[in-house]
Amino acid sequence: MTQLTITAPDDWHVHLRDGDFLSETVAATARCFRRAIVMPNLVPPVQTAEQALEYRQRILAAVPNDRDFDPLITLYLSNDTTPERIRQASEAGIVAAKLYPAGATTNSDAAVKGIEALYDVFQQMSESGMLLLIHGEVTDSHIDIFDREKAFIDQHLAPIHQRFPDLKIVFEHITTADATDFVLGASDSMAATITPQHLLLNRNDLLVGGIRPHNYCLPVLKRNTHQNRLRDVVAAGETRFFLGTDSAPHTKHTKESDCGCAGCYSAWSAIELYAHVFEDLDALDKLEGFASFYGPDFYGLARNTDTITLHKQEWTIPSEIKLANQDSIVPFFAGQRLAWQLAE
Ligand code: DOR
Ligand code: ZN
Repeated sequence: MTQLTITAPDDWHVHLRDGDFLSETVAATARCFRRAIVMPNLVPPVQTAEQALEYRQRILAAVPNDRDFDPLITLYLSNDTTPERIRQASEAGIVAAKLYPAGATTNSDAAVKGIEALYDVFQQMSESGMLLLIHGEVTDSHIDIFDREKAFIDQHLAPIHQRFPDLKIVFEHITTADATDFVLGASDSMAATITPQHLLLNRNDLLVGGIRPHNYCLPVLKRNTHQNRLRDVVAAGETRFFLGTDSAPHTKHTKESDCGCAGCYSAWSAIELYAHVFEDLDALDKLEGFASFYGPDFYGLARNTDTITLHKQEWTIPSEIKLANQDSIVPFFAGQRLAWQLAE
């Protein structure tokens, strides 16, 4: 096969940031995706419908003229979130809200302490049909970082799902066999996104032969048995697992530091990275479902009607991307070769 045409995909989990970052990140994401679920972990976070609609306008202003791109802004849940705020956000067309346990990742200090305190908010989300997106890791210092996803399932996710059976939940960027099995065993109101880095890499790629800061993200890469379980489930075309890149830009100097930031910036090569994985799995026929069907189906939105085409054509991911302010970003998989390229 030398050419692959699929229904235009969406990215169900992306970080576009704000301000100077937007001209970079929005162009990169709109290159290939028609819609994106945009994460709200700005400083300060996007907590009200009004803030969300203003943020959406700033993103739309950064969309290149020749692109058709619909950013779906999410609300950041905190201990200040009320059922009333959820009702207003839902009426304003906001389809989802994000739960970060406090301290779980970049800009999550304002997030939720004591998840049970949000149960009246989850009740309202369930009634409004708003999706709950979850960064599923506990943050207790005594829990090993490699066990934090599993602990979150046991302590929080399973109880939330049981208590609110109609609440649609996306378990974001899953990394373990435990998470995969949990979603497969849950009802059809539970789904998960999977990033390119968690399909392509395992913790050896982070630590063997030297620390690789550009492969550092949260949840952290796990052992290869977990990686293989994620690969199996996408190769099987399981419909409750879909594309969410978690593309998250950090400047080169903030990643190459003695306390490097978490996040992989994959937006310029996202669909090609996934094509690379699916080809490797001999499952290119499953790419379209994962990238373009299962996400909108779960969110209850229409599938896109136009298409994109990938060519079998080797190219190399650039080693650096220069920003307008002279900073730079090292993209995920920098300097590595990919077999598929999006036709412009
Ligand atoms: O690696 C990550 N980076 N994981 C997240 O959950 C957040 C993201 C970011 O915002 O940089
Ligand atoms: Zn994220």
